Amino acid sequence: MSEFYKRWATVYDRLARLPGLRSWRASAVDALGLSPGDTVAEMGCGTGANVPELRERVGPTGQVVGLDITREMLRAARRHPDRTGPSVDYLRADATRPPVRNVDAVLGTFVAGLFPDPAAVVDAWCDCVVPGGRVALLNFQRSDAVPLNLAFEGFVRLSAPGARLSTDSHADAFERRVAAARRRLTERTVDRRYETFGGGFLGLVSGTVPGGDRQ
Ligand SMILES: C[S@@+](CC[C@H](N)C(=O)[O-])C[C@H]1O[C@@H](n2cnc3c(N)ncnc32)[C@H](O)[C@@H]1O
Repeated sequence: MSEFYKRWATVYDRLARLPGLRSWRASAVDALGLSPGDTVAEMGCGTGANVPELRERVGPTGQVVGLDITREMLRAARRHPDRTGPSVDYLRADATRPPVRNVDAVLGTFVAGLFPDPAAVVDAWCDCVVPGGRVALLNFQRSDAVPLNLAFEGFVRLSAPGARLSTDSHADAFERRVAAARRRLTERTVDRRYETFGGGFLGLVSGTVPGGDRQ
């Protein structure tokens, strides 16, 4: 998978910054309920398209940790002045075993459908958040509108490694993995929110890890 993103890092960076995505990314960041001074980890941060927003929310006393397995994606992230700075760290690491602890929030945008065992990954993400902290997952999904479903299939084919080799519907498998991630987030959190955008083409699920008095 890392090989796939290594080849596509530059193209991906352009797609990730499409103006239409900006407000949806901002909504995902909103769902984390960040305050100045917080530490937030973004899993599979890619080229850092969410980082300007995250950086702004935690302020100069907070910390954004962008974690990704693909060196080229992180390299592309570091090229943007608004995605770097003293309050931003990038780590090359496996998000299925995140090397972070006691963060105030975790964000995963367009990644939950990539993991073979998404429930275990969401468990690992919830485990590294302090009680009272939030976790948010933003993903493309099928919608009631047929053209958007075609767009969904296209997105999965372009973004998920191996799509062209698959005989059954790659999009079905992708959707099952996203559903498994959302289910586990629902089991692990309270004060949950589910929002959709773009005619139902994007879904945002977020929740608070129980305990603590942050909220
Ligand atoms: C579709 S991109 C999403 C990037 C970013 N979250 C965004 O919203 O633009 C998926 C990213 O997940 C990363 N990734 C895939 N598997 C990973 C893993 N096990 N650990 C960390 N990053 C991973 C890829 O390198 C890629 O940058």
